[in-house]
Amino acid sequence: MNHTAVDVIRTKRDGGVLTDDQIDWVISAYTRGDVADEQMSALAMAVFLNGMTFAETSRWTQAMIDSGERLSWPVPTVDNHSTGGVGDKITLPLAPLVAACGVAVPQLSGRGLGHTGGTLDKLESIPGWRASLTSAEIRAQLESVGAVVCAPTDGLAPADRKLYALRDVTATVECVPLIASSIMSKKIAEGAGALVLDVKVGSGAFMKSLSDARSLASALVAIGTAHGQKVTALLTDMSVPLGRAVGNAVEVAEAVEVLKGGGPADVIALTVALATEMLSLAGMPADPAAVLASGEAYETWARMIAAQGGDPAAELPRPRHVHVVEAPRDGFLSRLDALGVGVAAWRLGAGRARKEDPVQAAAGVVCHVKPGEAVVTGAPLLELHTDTPDAVAGALAALAGAYEITDEPAAGNPLIIETIRG
Ligand code: URA
Repeated sequence: MNHTAVDVIRTKRDGGVLTDDQIDWVISAYTRGDVADEQMSALAMAVFLNGMTFAETSRWTQAMIDSGERLSWPVPTVDNHSTGGVGDKITLPLAPLVAACGVAVPQLSGRGLGHTGGTLDKLESIPGWRASLTSAEIRAQLESVGAVVCAPTDGLAPADRKLYALRDVTATVECVPLIASSIMSKKIAEGAGALVLDVKVGSGAFMKSLSDARSLASALVAIGTAHGQKVTALLTDMSVPLGRAVGNAVEVAEAVEVLKGGGPADVIALTVALATEMLSLAGMPADPAAVLASGEAYETWARMIAAQGGDPAAELPRPRHVHVVEAPRDGFLSRLDALGVGVAAWRLGAGRARKEDPVQAAAGVVCHVKPGEAVVTGAPLLELHTDTPDAVAGALAALAGAYEITDEPAAGNPLIIETIRG
């Protein structure tokens, strides 16, 4: 049947359900350039306003997978995906840990946009490290090292790449069917044997409320299951930054601490919890906590970084300017808002406002005190790192009201809130 973009837009505008044929046609024609950006923007807004049924979302996902190549790997694989948070460096210790436990991890990752950091931006603070690999290089590294974290290949879900950029400038990102199909099209096309999703909940996350996060996690798991993907989702807290470091080089340094047997308790706990789920889905009996403690995961990290041209022993970039925020009184830090800290790090130069902006490797925020810990007047609370001292005022404005010190410690949220299995 012959379709036109106008007919497809009109169906969704009027609250109708798109047929499989309409979805296949519009995604393929948009990828080819036969449907114009302004038409796809109108359709994205109609979907945003009127939603899609599960059957439509699942078909939309399939059409985006079919817009490009579907990768496959020479060894058993498992992957993770986080919906993004503040201080979320978990992929850095997680990929080598799972590889050291015996299952390869092909992690095609993204760059940051807005206040949540991107894994590739963090890794690029390591001197020499290269994000772009060919499919042949990814395969070779999976066989030799077992873990790869790199940029997606050009052929991976090109429809999503085009549509995501359009959604970003048309206020159509925050829509469960569009987010779920976007994430799952890339992850299914990536071809890992199993997938564990970390769906963040709280001020620093996409999904601020538990019910929204639950809807997204359920949609992601249902789409994966419908496409034969083994998948589990964890709902995890993002009301407080993860760990103490938020930024690029500072997060790499913290990930290395964890791989060397130290580091903050929440980063260790989430890394081990996600590794446990990944290994269980992949059918590999292993004890990730013991492997982390043994130093084997650090060895895999060092080989993974070196294989992509990085020097794992190189000193990481340091900021030209450090501004210390001191505790205004004695007491306990009872609140540290993830969004405030994330926006501060972003304004200091750790993140970008537009896709093409550069990021500063050394920019970020170091949280000397985390909620529940005691502070004394004048002790360092937060350290702001930047190469551009003019950025400090904006960061301080983002932090105004983002923390609270009280006489008694306040109870925190559990880190792992819920698990949804496929
Ligand atoms: N991440 C994605 O990959 N896609 C979205 O739509 C939102 C977050």
